[in-house]
Amino acid sequence: MSQQRKVEKTGLLWALLALVQLTRAQQSPFTNCKYAERGSLTAICTNATVSTFHATIYNFDHLDETLICSGCTLTHLITGTFDIGGNRIQVLDLANSAIETIEAHAFTGLIFMEKLYLSNNSIHHLERGAFHGARKVKKLYMNQALTAPLPPFVFHGLLLLTDLLLQNNSLPLLETQTFEGLPNLRNLDLRFNSLRELNNSLNSLRNLEVLLLSNNQLAKISPTDLHGLSKLLKVDLSHNFISTLNLNLGQPNSLKKLNLSNSHVGSDLIKLGVFHGLYSLEILDLSLNWIVTLPKQVFQELHSLREAILSHNALTEFATGSFSGLPYLRFINVSHNKIKRAFITGKLQLHNLQVLDLSTNNMVDFDLLAFLRQAPLISKVDLRDNMISCPKLRRITTGFKNSSVQAATDPMNCSELDAGEEDELLKEISEELNNVPTSKTGIIALKITMLLVVIVLIGLLVYVQFFILNRR
Ligand SMILES: *[C@@H]1O[C@H](CO)[C@@H](O)[C@H](O)[C@H]1NC(C)=O
Ligand SMILES: *[C@@H]1O[C@H](CO)[C@@H](O)[C@H](O)[C@H]1NC(C)=O
Ligand SMILES: *[C@@H]1O[C@H](CO)[C@@H](O)[C@H](O)[C@H]1NC(C)=O
Ligand SMILES: *[C@@H]1O[C@H](CO)[C@@H](O)[C@H](O)[C@H]1NC(C)=O
Ligand SMILES: *[C@@H]1O[C@H](CO)[C@@H](O)[C@H](O)[C@H]1NC(C)=O
Ligand SMILES: *[C@@H]1O[C@H](CO)[C@@H](O)[C@H](O)[C@H]1NC(C)=O
Ligand SMILES: *[C@@H]1O[C@H](CO)[C@@H](O)[C@H](O)[C@H]1NC(C)=O
Ligand SMILES: *[C@@H]1O[C@H](CO)[C@@H](O)[C@H](O)[C@H]1NC(C)=O
Repeated sequence: MSQQRKVEKTGLLWALLALVQLTRAQQSPFTNCKYAERGSLTAICTNATVSTFHATIYNFDHLDETLICSGCTLTHLITGTFDIGGNRIQVLDLANSAIETIEAHAFTGLIFMEKLYLSNNSIHHLERGAFHGARKVKKLYMNQALTAPLPPFVFHGLLLLTDLLLQNNSLPLLETQTFEGLPNLRNLDLRFNSLRELNNSLNSLRNLEVLLLSNNQLAKISPTDLHGLSKLLKVDLSHNFISTLNLNLGQPNSLKKLNLSNSHVGSDLIKLGVFHGLYSLEILDLSLNWIVTLPKQVFQELHSLREAILSHNALTEFATGSFSGLPYLRFINVSHNKIKRAFITGKLQLHNLQVLDLSTNNMVDFDLLAFLRQAPLISKVDLRDNMISCPKLRRITTGFKNSSVQAATDPMNCSELDAGEEDELLKEISEELNNVPTSKTGIIALKITMLLVVIVLIGLLVYVQFFILNRR
């Protein structure tokens, strides 16, 4: 007891003691690192600190493709921490290692490293050049790793990086040059952060293909934010607060999938031109928003659109015209809206439409025949959970029964038709159905008409020629 007190009193002695302990620890032959299972090509270092990797007697050789740190405390990753001669480490897993700061050149010497896991740490300081000397890294995992914003140029030197995972970091902002120096980045995952704007930070990512931004607080995508990112295939903006959207990817662009689900999108956003230039877009998810109306031709430039997802909005009408002129469109989901009427507008058919989900709306009727005329390839219509009366429902189901269309309707408490009644109704409907011009006959009719027009024109020409000749 008394001895301890003495030590506490004399600060010098205490410091000396600590120093002795520290040097002793550094000198002792660490056996923290072990080869894992035979054939796993993995070394595991347990309870390591920053000095462990140099001090250990373990010999990192060609059989150690993966190095996993387990229960480590690597608070300050200093320059050259992993500069271990002869190492051939390809995967370095430093997840859950209590890392707080990373000095420049901390990973120097890991010349074979392709994957670096830094997930689940508390990094608040990343020196400029932190990743210098690790030029082969292709995938960098930093989910739940940061407690401070990323400084500009932080990823400089990662020339081959293709995947950067930064989800769940509470990132409040991105600096314009945060992602500078990543010419090969393909996938950027920024989900579950607190971003309010992109601040032109993505402009240098010329090869970016997948951009995940869901679960942030983005309200505005400015025309300069994604400009020139012509290789983008997928943009996920779901779970944000998008009120201004101007993707302006430039031409040509490759965007195939745009997710704006659950992003507070209102009718004010869905106006003419909002999807300008997205000629390659195949899937558009606008579900779980506040859209009340779809302006005519709002989708008109989406020449490649295959799936339009508009479920869980506040649409009051469904008009085929909103979707006409989209030759590949095969799927429309407008379930869970407030649709009272579904009607045919416009002359153009929905040539390829196969599935239409109109379930959970307020419709009181549905004109099956008119619809079959407009969408000749339809194979599935979901009408469940609407307010269609028994006689009308009976007619619809019977009509569908006789066609190749699968209609989902409620198991309503409508009385069954007896066989005679059903036969009569079927007959009536099938007659009507047979009058539906299939697209084939439509095309033939068109060809005949064109032929006639040509003949008439030729006749006219001949007539004019003769007329003129005669006059001369
Ligand atoms: C690592 O530390 C934990 C807790 O401090 C201890 O229980 C465990 O035995 C240590 N493992 C090794 C291999 O030293
Ligand atoms: C994160 O790391 C801490 C230790 O630093 C650990 O206790 C925790 O389980 C880890 N969480 C996840 C989700 O991996
Ligand atoms: C985000 O972090 C929280 C804890 O902070 C965790 O529960 C959650 O699973 C994480 N989500 C993702 C997508 O990593
Ligand atoms: C945008 O980036 C600039 C330059 O890096 C920075 O000074 C500014 O704070 C950033 N603004 C926001 C709102 O993130
Ligand atoms: C859009 O994002 C939401 C939520 O993030 C997800 O549930 C949905 O499946 C995504 N849509 C598509 C078409 O991938
Ligand atoms: C349409 O969306 C609703 C709500 O998200 C979903 O339950 C339903 O399965 C979707 N319909 C089809 C045909 O995928
Ligand atoms: C409709 O049903 C009737 C009688 O069952 C049958 O003769 C007719 O060919 C069917 N029409 C179609 C288009 O399937
Ligand atoms: C159908 O009828 C049963 C009793 O005959 C009733 O309990 C049920 O609520 C009815 N369902 C609908 C959808 O009307």
